[in-house]
Amino acid sequence: MTIFNFSAGPAVLPPEVKQQIEAELYNWNDTGCSVMEMSHRSAEFTAMAEENEALLRKLLQVPEDYAVMLIPGGARLQYSMIPMNMSSAEGKAVYAVNGHWGKEAFKEGSRFCRATSVRPVTPETYAEIPAFADVDVPTDADYLHYTSNETLEGVQWHQLPSHNGVRLCCDMTSDLLTKPIDVKQYSLIYASAQKNMGIAGITCVLMRKRDIGCSENLLPTMMNYKTYADTGSFYNTPPVFPWYVMLLVLRWTEAQGGVDAIQKMNQQKSRKLYDYIDSSDFFSNKVQLACRSEINVPFWLADETLNSTFLQESSAVGLKALKGHMAVGGMRASIYNAMPMAGIDSLIAFMQEFERTKG
Ligand SMILES: Cc1ncc(COP(=O)(O)O)c(C=O)c1O
Repeated sequence: MTIFNFSAGPAVLPPEVKQQIEAELYNWNDTGCSVMEMSHRSAEFTAMAEENEALLRKLLQVPEDYAVMLIPGGARLQYSMIPMNMSSAEGKAVYAVNGHWGKEAFKEGSRFCRATSVRPVTPETYAEIPAFADVDVPTDADYLHYTSNETLEGVQWHQLPSHNGVRLCCDMTSDLLTKPIDVKQYSLIYASAQKNMGIAGITCVLMRKRDIGCSENLLPTMMNYKTYADTGSFYNTPPVFPWYVMLLVLRWTEAQGGVDAIQKMNQQKSRKLYDYIDSSDFFSNKVQLACRSEINVPFWLADETLNSTFLQESSAVGLKALKGHMAVGGMRASIYNAMPMAGIDSLIAFMQEFERTKG
C-alpha cells in the first residue's frame, strides 16, 4: 500500500532523500563514517556546509548583504532571540497576529520588549487576516513581526503586510522554500527545517547584515545572531544530521526546478483539493478565499460525529496524519513540497467515497 503522510511537522520527506540517507548512512562521501560521526570542522563537513549555503542562496535569491545562519532551538527560540537582538525592555515591537503561532510569538516577545499587536488578538481561531494599514504601525517600532503561513488554521499571507517602513521579521516555518520570496524586503526571515527543509533540530535564519550585532542588551553568546554570523554557525557543535538532510532536500528542491516550479505544483495541489472541498456538501473549509493556505488545508466534516471514523478509515488506506490540531479541530491535510499530486488524488478519491457512503 502506498502511504501518503499529511503530517503538519515533522513532515513528509522526498523518497529520494530517504533513499540517499539510507545509502550513505555507514559511509558518507567515501569517508568510511556516517556524517553523524565526524567533526563539523572536517574538510568534508565544511564543504557540505558551504554547498548548503550556496544552494539556499541560489534557490531563494538571497542577496550578499544577508547572512545565512543555521541555529538550533527551533522556530520558537527565534520568538525570544528576535526581541532580545532587535529591541530592548524599553523598545517597541509590533506583532500582526492571525493564528496560533503568531500569538505564541507575540506572547514571548512581550517578555522582552513593549510588544503591541496591530489588531486585537482574539481568543478564537482565525479564518482571515485582520486588515490593517501603514498608519496602524508606529514608525518608532523596532520591528513588525508576522507569520506568513499559519500552520494550524491554514491562513497564509499572499502579499507583504503594510509595515510603514518598519523592519520586517517573518516566521516562514511552514512556507519557506514553497515559493519565491523577495528577501530584501525583510530584516529577518526564519524557518525551522522540519516542514520543507528536512528534519527537526535546525532553524534557518536569513538576516540583513547591517541589523546584526546592534543590540545593547547583555545577550547570552548562544542567543546573539553575531555569534552565528561570525562563525558560519560553527560556534558550538551544530546539529550535523539535520544540516546534512537539509542539503539533500535543497538538492531535491533544485532538481524539481527550484522554487518557481515548486510553487506551481503547490498551487495545483491546493487548488485541486480546495475545488473538491468547495464543491462538496459534506466537507468545508472556513478560511476566506484571499488568504487560504497553499500548504496546510484544514477541512471539517458536516457531521463531526464521523470524525473518528474518517480518521480510522483514511489511515487504513494509507492516508496518514489527517487529524486537525486540537486548537482548531476537524481535519488538516499538510501538503508540503514533498507531497506528490498522487497524494492529493488519493485523498480526494477517499473523501468522495466517504461522502457517497456516509454523507
Ligand atoms: C509557523 C510555525 N511557527 C513556529 C513553529 C514552531 O516551530 P518549532 O517547533 O521548530 O519551534 C511551527 C511548528 O509547527 C510553525 O508551524
